[in-house]
Amino acid sequence: MKFNQFLPLVAALVLGSSCAPLEGVHLPIAQQAGSQLHKRFDNSTASFAKTANLQFDIDGASKYYPGTNSYWISFMTNDADVDSTFATLQENGLKILRIWGFNDVNEKPQEGTVYFQSFAGSEPVINTGADGLERLDYVVKSAEKHGIKLIINFVNNWTDYGGMAAYMKFFGGAQSADASNNSAWYTSTEAQAQYKKYIEAVVSRFKTSPTVLAWELANEPRCKGCDTSVIFNWASETSKYVKSLDPNHLVTLGDEGFGLEGDGSYPYTYGEGVDFVKNLGIKELDFGTFHLYPKSWGVSNDWGNGWVESHGAACAAAGKPCLFEEYGTETDHCTVEQPWQKTAINTKAIAGDLFWQLGVDTSTGKTHDDGNTIYTNSEDWKCLVDNHGEAIAQRNGA
Ligand SMILES: *[C@@H]1O[C@H](CO)[C@@H](O)[C@H](O)[C@H]1NC(C)=O
Ligand SMILES: *[C@@H]1O[C@H](CO)[C@@H](O)[C@H](O)[C@H]1NC(C)=O
Ligand SMILES: *[C@@H]1O[C@H](CO)[C@@H](O)[C@H](O)[C@H]1NC(C)=O
Repeated sequence: MKFNQFLPLVAALVLGSSCAPLEGVHLPIAQQAGSQLHKRFDNSTASFAKTANLQFDIDGASKYYPGTNSYWISFMTNDADVDSTFATLQENGLKILRIWGFNDVNEKPQEGTVYFQSFAGSEPVINTGADGLERLDYVVKSAEKHGIKLIINFVNNWTDYGGMAAYMKFFGGAQSADASNNSAWYTSTEAQAQYKKYIEAVVSRFKTSPTVLAWELANEPRCKGCDTSVIFNWASETSKYVKSLDPNHLVTLGDEGFGLEGDGSYPYTYGEGVDFVKNLGIKELDFGTFHLYPKSWGVSNDWGNGWVESHGAACAAAGKPCLFEEYGTETDHCTVEQPWQKTAINTKAIAGDLFWQLGVDTSTGKTHDDGNTIYTNSEDWKCLVDNHGEAIAQRNGA
């Protein structure tokens, strides 16, 4: 059963101030399900999110927030699938959704395939059409209707959906042929000018929408072997630029959280060109982000708890909240990830967590299973969404 005695709390979280039947807290569960839960979020009560007391203040409520990641939602072409995905998030109290706001291509895809920016012709082209940013428009609109807050990311370090390598393939230069070295992208005048154009195209569309929780500079930016000043300087410059376009929304980096004081294991080192604490000091970055993939990083699952705590301590010291923005494993999802969730909600300055990644049923079947996916109506979901939601409600003192 998805809903247990915790339901009234979920309902309160989801329905917010439009929740007249909160007296219903004492009603039998059966009478609460259905229509009330599908009640529309009252978008007119939404406001720009802020940070406060090392937490997110979302529509006037400052507390710990759960959420998840969906890279695919911006690329779906069926509106009903987008709506049903947001309805699922709303019903389950998953308040934050992190999405890809980029989709860069070097060759124009087949008709009907979504892409946002093309480097196929003689000039880069931002696709504002029906198979372009209009898909993102729909995602934002549906999020508004369901009261979900979005983190929208501008570029990928990885080559999925183009990424930094797509820019460099077009602009050329020393690293253009080496997709495994992004260092040139951060300092290329042409690449940065185009990246800023792209940022402006996205930000200007959603500047006034309170459903945007934050703009995110990149997905997992790394610059292996580079001095940490490369990413620091780029992040300083870009975050300032985003704030100049839109002073009302939060801005964050989207990094994995590498490079901070710790046990000296690989993720704590600075070899990927990232200095977590230094970057967190950038004035225009409102909160920190960090990810957790022990298997790819050659550390133990249990090590992850210390990783969460180290970031909490660094964020508290910086006076900014931090989001445990991605975490995943390919096996034993519940056993492995539940301890990380418990650590996160008990660690000062950790403001929320987003598991990687959301899995739902759509009109064309289940969404992508990358091994990490947590599907609705599964035992994993019960553990990592329902049980976690109960623990969060207790922690928030609801
Ligand atoms: C939600 O409210 C914002 C303004 O606060 C408005 O721009 C937007 O159109 C509204 N969205 C919906 C779906 O009504
Ligand atoms: C992400 O960036 C790092 C550093 O440049 C690089 O090692 C890694 O391969 C990148 N990923 C891809 C696929 O570009
Ligand atoms: C990537 O290129 C930069 C600049 O040329 C260099 O400093 C860095 O060491 C390179 N990284 C790798 C992994 O080769």
